[in-house]
This record gives sequence, structure tokens and C-alpha cells, in this order.
Amino acid sequence: MSPRWYSEAVVYCLDVDTFADSNTDGIGDLPGLIGRLDYLARLGVTCLWLHPIHPSPRRDDGYDATDFYNVDPRFGTLGDFAELLHQANNLGIRVIIDLVINHVSDEHPWFQSARSDPDSPYRDWFVWSETEPADRYQGMVFPGEQPETWTFDETAGLWYYHRFYDFQPDLNMANPDVRAEVKKVMAFWLQLGVSGFRIDAVPFIIELTVPGESESPKDFEFLTELREHAAWRRGDALLLAEANVEPANLVTYFGDSNGSGNRINMLFDFMLNGRLVLALARQDPEPIIEALRDTPALPRGGQWATFLRNHDEIDLSRLTAEQREEVFAVFGPDPEMRLYDRGIRRRLAPMLGGDERRLKLAYSLQFTLRGTPVLRYGEEIGMGDDLSLPGRQAIRTPMQWSSAAGAGFSAAPELVRPVISRGNYRYHKVNVTDQRGDPDSLLIWFERMIRTLRESPEVGTGSCQHVDVPLPPGVLAHRADAASGCMLFLHNLGTQPAVVDLGHLAAEADHPNDVFTDREYEPVGKLDALEIDGYGYRWIRMRRNPAG
Ligand code: NOJ
Repeated sequence: MSPRWYSEAVVYCLDVDTFADSNTDGIGDLPGLIGRLDYLARLGVTCLWLHPIHPSPRRDDGYDATDFYNVDPRFGTLGDFAELLHQANNLGIRVIIDLVINHVSDEHPWFQSARSDPDSPYRDWFVWSETEPADRYQGMVFPGEQPETWTFDETAGLWYYHRFYDFQPDLNMANPDVRAEVKKVMAFWLQLGVSGFRIDAVPFIIELTVPGESESPKDFEFLTELREHAAWRRGDALLLAEANVEPANLVTYFGDSNGSGNRINMLFDFMLNGRLVLALARQDPEPIIEALRDTPALPRGGQWATFLRNHDEIDLSRLTAEQREEVFAVFGPDPEMRLYDRGIRRRLAPMLGGDERRLKLAYSLQFTLRGTPVLRYGEEIGMGDDLSLPGRQAIRTPMQWSSAAGAGFSAAPELVRPVISRGNYRYHKVNVTDQRGDPDSLLIWFERMIRTLRESPEVGTGSCQHVDVPLPPGVLAHRADAASGCMLFLHNLGTQPAVVDLGHLAAEADHPNDVFTDREYEPVGKLDALEIDGYGYRWIRMRRNPAG
């Protein structure tokens, strides 16, 4: 076992409002989630990441908070949240929450006070300019939905900066009072018992915005401060960051230049995500191999969080324009499937044409590549999307528990968002209850896969390398090595069956055997004639070190 719990975690993320409704008001809530913890425990989830839970007008699904010290009353009370932590802990599930402190809602009392009174103690908590900044139309994160990053506020008579929507004014992190408040917010939730935070928009949090300068300097020391603070309050607190930046700049988020991991513990692997999707589109593992090669070495304790789908669009902006077009052609042929000119607003099951063999291949890949896997709710049953909903809401529909009205999510006549009730992914067809009773379902497959991963600690804690020998088209061989032993993985991204010769590894193996496969194969033998079907996968335990 690694001393760092997050290295061997399986993270599951969800929006409380679309997961389970306990009081029939049509909105998911904390008691509803508590009632489903047993489901998550059985699935093998060890860490729950909750999307924003704070009070909010929810113009950006809660990424626009009005109070960092409470939970949205629609979800329940702080008491319900404490109960959730207790019940989750009893089942061995940790809870982390989204920490969205780059900005607040424009309805937040801090901004209301700041805009209306030049002498407000909160005036300098935001980023203002007296004149129209030259970079007003630069750096938008939501092109097409967001025309500018500086907006004139009539009440204040000033321009304010907002990296995201205009209703999300940025906090001024150069202000020591703001920094102190952020630390207080973190301490509050750690004291309640969360195991850490998924920190939203980290590259922008550390931006020291200068009006007119689109490339503002970054203050990485603030991350060091946050880590130090969190660790003093809870030694094993996790900081999981969203930082979709160039590979060359990634390591600085983990630690300073002397190689120590004194900042963020875990970063989402956006680079791998884009390449994985490209590899699936091409049915060729080369982009994954490139991602493994290009990945910078991390300081001790630094960890990647792998994902295939999250709550946003699949962001293809790190691919070249040509590669992006390739992916669009295969997975987003229809313009309504695309978003912000850079991404795809679909769930994985419809992207892969509902082909379960391919879905399993894709998730087997994600879960065996270096790092800690993050799974978005509903992916484990192959939920679909609703492209009639605007933007990212297409993939934020209620969880499909059963074929009862309201998908077992809620018995209310009106729901926070419609359930998917038409097409191949309608809740009558895709739901937990039906899959629970079917040993061949995707859900039961996920349970088995995650259980096998728990017996393969090398993936989360070890090194991950591509086995660099010529292989048949479509096939990827990679290995994970740690003190506990060695695992070898074969994945066939293509449709043609293949035979793989990895005989040169036999000397390193000790009674190697398949531990998880898409079908029963001939025994591994000397590793020199390993069959692998189209869309097949084989997890082979090469060696287990007794004292590992
Ligand atoms: C990133 C989040 O993932 C996204 O959903 C949100 O809209 C922006 N940050 C703004 O908070």
C-alpha cells in the first residue's frame, strides 16, 4: 500500500442535484446521495468528488458561489453534509469537494458590497480597471458564450475582470485578505471532515492580473501556501487541480524547481485525455505512446488523475488543428455535438456508437494507464447525452437508477433537468436496476474491473511504460512496475484479432497469468504468442514481489 491514499483511489464525481432526490422536489440532494452510498461502495469507489455544493444562483451549475461556508439549501443542510461524511467514512469512502475560488457569483455579498461602495472592505477583493483594458476581448474561456473578459459595471463605474462568464467576477489573489479568506474556507471544510479539494481553474487563481496585459505573471507560491495550510490542518489532505496547460509548465504546479512536491498533489491529465480520444478515433495507440513519452517526470508524491469524460466538454485544444478535425470527424460529426470550437459535448457511450466491447476497451485503457482513475457518474452504466439541452447540460442529465418514472432519480413531476427518455440511451433501457441483474452488463463489468485494479497497486503507485517493440496495428502493450510487482497490459484499439510476441519479457516474469480479460484466452505461457481480439484487453500479472 502507498502511504498516499490518493495513489490507489478510485474517484467518482457527481452533481448532487442530478444524482438522487430524496424529498421529491425534483432536485437531487444530500440525503438522496447518502441513500446511494452503498451503491458506490459496491462499485468500488473510494473517493467521491462533489461538484460545487455551495449556495449559488447556479448560472454555471454552482461554479458561481454566493457563500463558501454553507451548502445550497436545495441540497439540504450542513448537518446533512456532516452526515454524508460520516456515512461515507463508514463505508471507506472519502469525500472531496470542488473549491471554486478563482471567482464568485456576482450575487455574492462580497461583490455586491465591492461594486456599490468605494470604501467597502471588499472593494479590493476584485480586479478593477478605471479605463477599458486593451485585453478586453482576449482570453475568453467560453468562446461563443462569453464576448469579453472585462465588463463595465454601471454601479461601480469601473471595469471588472472575469476570466469566465461576466457573472463570475475574479477574486483578486494579490490581496492578502483574499488569500487569508481562501485558507479559512479550506480550513472550514477540512475541519468538517472532507479529505481535500478539487481546485477549479488553478492557472487563473495564480494569475496576478494586470489590466491590459493578456499574459499576466503567475504566483506559484500561492499554491505552496495553500498546500502548507491544508497539510497543517489535515496531514493527508488532497489538492487535486484542474490545470489544462502546456506540458512544459505542468511540473511547476506540483512543486518548485528543486524537485520537491510541495504544491498540488494530483493534476488532471488533460494531455493524456486528448491523446486517448485521438487514439480511440484512429484505432491506433500511437498518440497514447506519445503522451507517455512526453510526460514530464513528477516530483515524489505527484500523481496524475486520468479521465475519459468529465462534466465539461472533451477539450481537444491540446491537439493540433488537424488532429482535432480527425476526432471531430469520428466522434463529433454533427456541429451540435461540438462546443467552443475545441470540444465535444457527448458522453462516451454514444461517441462509441453504444458498442460495449469498445467502451470496455476504452475504460480498461483509462484505468490501467498511470495515475488515479476518475469516473463520472452514469458512465458505469453507459448513459447517453441529450443534445437538445444547451452547452454542457447535454451530459449533465439525471442519473438513471431504474425504469420507474423519473428514472428512479425522482418521483417529482418536474425535474431539475429532463431525464433521457428517448432513443437508445433512454432510462427504460439504460439503468442501474436492470444492469444489476445482468451478469454481463457494463455495471457488473465495472465492478469486476475496479476490484481487479485494487489487486493491481502497481497502476496507481508504480511507473507506467509503453513496451517498445513492434506490435500488430492497433495494439498497445504497456507495463506498470512498483515494489509490489509488475503488471503487463495489452489493449487492441482496432477491430482485427492479433497475436503478440512479448517473449523477451519472459525472463522477468514469475508464473505470469491473466487476471482480467475481455474473454478467456489460452494461458499466457512464455508470453511469445499472446492472442488478443479486436477491442480486446488482457491484464497480465507478471510478477508479485512477496515483500512488495
Ligand atoms: C472549470 C469547470 O470545470 C467548469 O465547469 C466551470 O464552468 C469553470 N471552471 C468555471 O468555474
